[in-house]
Amino acid sequence: MSLLTLTNIHKTFEKGTVNENHVLRGLDLDINQGDFISVIGGNGAGKSTLLNSIAGVVDIDQGDILLEGESLRKEPVAKRAKKISRVFQDPRMGTATNLTIEENMAIAYFRGEKRSLFKKAVTDKDRAVFKTALSELGLGLEDRLKTDAAFLSGGQRQALTLAMATLLRPKLLLLDEHTAALDPKTSDMVMALTKKIVEEQRLTTLMITHNMEHAIAYGNRLVMLYHGKIVVDVRGEEKTSLTVAQLMDLFHKNSGEVLADDALVLG
Ligand SMILES: Nc1ncnc2c1ncn2[C@@H]1O[C@H](COP(=O)(O)OP(=O)(O)OP(=O)(O)O)[C@@H](O)[C@H]1O
Ligand SMILES: [Mg+2]
Repeated sequence: MSLLTLTNIHKTFEKGTVNENHVLRGLDLDINQGDFISVIGGNGAGKSTLLNSIAGVVDIDQGDILLEGESLRKEPVAKRAKKISRVFQDPRMGTATNLTIEENMAIAYFRGEKRSLFKKAVTDKDRAVFKTALSELGLGLEDRLKTDAAFLSGGQRQALTLAMATLLRPKLLLLDEHTAALDPKTSDMVMALTKKIVEEQRLTTLMITHNMEHAIAYGNRLVMLYHGKIVVDVRGEEKTSLTVAQLMDLFHKNSGEVLADDALVLG
């Protein structure tokens, strides 16, 4: 069953200027309920713009985005954020470092409620929910609720961000290179956590990565973006049997610098 359908998405930045950049060029993608999709593609291919378009941060010029059959186009970012969670590359983006772990979890938990967070006290019952979610991470954060997020390492912070993003089961989880700023061991740890949470909650997930091994190892489907379109879409057996060498080969065939429509090639 389709959860999210993108049809003929176009996005041009800085239209009408010398910097005009037609980034998404008629992109189509149909995402099934429960799909865990790795998204790969060269720098500037439009991967983040795709996720930003779904989240509503980028306003698309043409096409439509349907979540469970309903158009998101007119929905503001805040309304979409109740259904769509995001984790970014920079560990500082997902957590408020001047707040404690408990306060960060409370922000995620009360998100979308009209009453402001700071008027609403965290009850023991809420705290128990936070502790359960944090203990899933296996990092002992459940015993450090009063610690400022500023004292956490990058990996711990990304793990906390994942817990926050999935505390209220989102319809869609968007991960934009969420392990790229971490060392290889920590990156693998956060990927293992991602897999565990996605499987346990059966989350529909789009994960951008430049790590070809991760792109093959995680998820049931892999798409490659080039020049603002999906140029490769593999799943199941076809995906799991891919080797890094084959994927690199596909990548080189579908990459190269993306030039704007009217870019001048000098020299
Ligand atoms: N808000 C914006 N305003 C103007 N140009 C933008 C904006 N966001 C993205 N772009 C441009 O759109 C193009 C695609 O960017 P995007 O961030 O989607 O690429 P990406 O595939 O995520 O690349 P990377 O792998 O480097 O993260 C780039 O040329 C970028 O400079
Ligand atoms: Mg990007």
